[in-house]
Amino acid sequence: MRRGAIVALTSIALAVAAITTAIAYFVDWLPDQASEERQGMDLVFWVTVGICIFVFAIVASVSIYAGVKFRVRPDDESDGPPIHGHTGVEIVWTAVPTIFVTIIAVLSAIVLAQNEDPKGVPLRIDVLAQQYAWQFTYPEQGGIKATNLYLPIDRSTKLVLTSRDVIHSFWVPEFGQKQDAVPGIVTTVLITPTKTGEYRLICTELCGLGHALMRSRAIVLSQADFEAWTQKQAPGGGTAGGDGVDAKGIFTANCAPCHTLAKAGTSGMVGPNLDQAASLGPQRVEQQIRNGGGGMPPFGGQLSDAEIKALVQYLTGSNG
Ligand code: CUA
Repeated sequence: MRRGAIVALTSIALAVAAITTAIAYFVDWLPDQASEERQGMDLVFWVTVGICIFVFAIVASVSIYAGVKFRVRPDDESDGPPIHGHTGVEIVWTAVPTIFVTIIAVLSAIVLAQNEDPKGVPLRIDVLAQQYAWQFTYPEQGGIKATNLYLPIDRSTKLVLTSRDVIHSFWVPEFGQKQDAVPGIVTTVLITPTKTGEYRLICTELCGLGHALMRSRAIVLSQADFEAWTQKQAPGGGTAGGDGVDAKGIFTANCAPCHTLAKAGTSGMVGPNLDQAASLGPQRVEQQIRNGGGGMPPFGGQLSDAEIKALVQYLTGSNG
């Protein structure tokens, strides 16, 4: 009798474990792995899944077995026997989860420590988050600014994050690493890309109306391509300033996430459509860009006078 129960419980547990393991194994749960940091993080994930399957199989087998075996017959009005505790079982169901949780905690601590360890001297990139856009600055490459995150492969990059307004959070699923960008403080996170390509860069902290649109791209280049990119972006070209200010580039970098403007090909829905901005007059437009207001952050401290002037002209067709 007793042996029959053990065989039944074990069989159910093995069947449940087989089904859940198949679901875990055959479904493609995780995004592509594109950073060294992801390796440890995925290990923690799968160890935790393994522990969950083990616990779930035992709980499911006991539940199913008890449900079938001790089911009340339709004419049975009697109570079950009074049972007051079972010290042995209580020790087991306290000790086993404690061991599992400790395993997960220790493994996580090791992976976190490893992921803060750069491979060689890390490349520094400053990350500025604001409602609702990302800006990346490369201080070691002459202060290049970009709205997409360009990274060289096989080299650790140290992101130094902060925010202009509210709390945002940096996340590229393929890299795993996640870090908050908090106004008033500086946070850091390390990423060592292992695969070239383009990945989604997501704000993963609810930060306002445009949160869902606060997206950008992380682009991993070969070391040579990254070198070429930094050369191309160096002062004198692109949006780096000087007389050849690229107003459309400034608009795309700073305004596109929130505003629609037909001639820039943007379709942001957070702020007003700017196709008719000329009707406001250049002064109003410049005031709004400098000081913000109505839900828009001020750009006075972020853009140079020349850039603001170029932007006003671009929007209103006037020199102000
Ligand atoms: Cu920024 Cu959500």
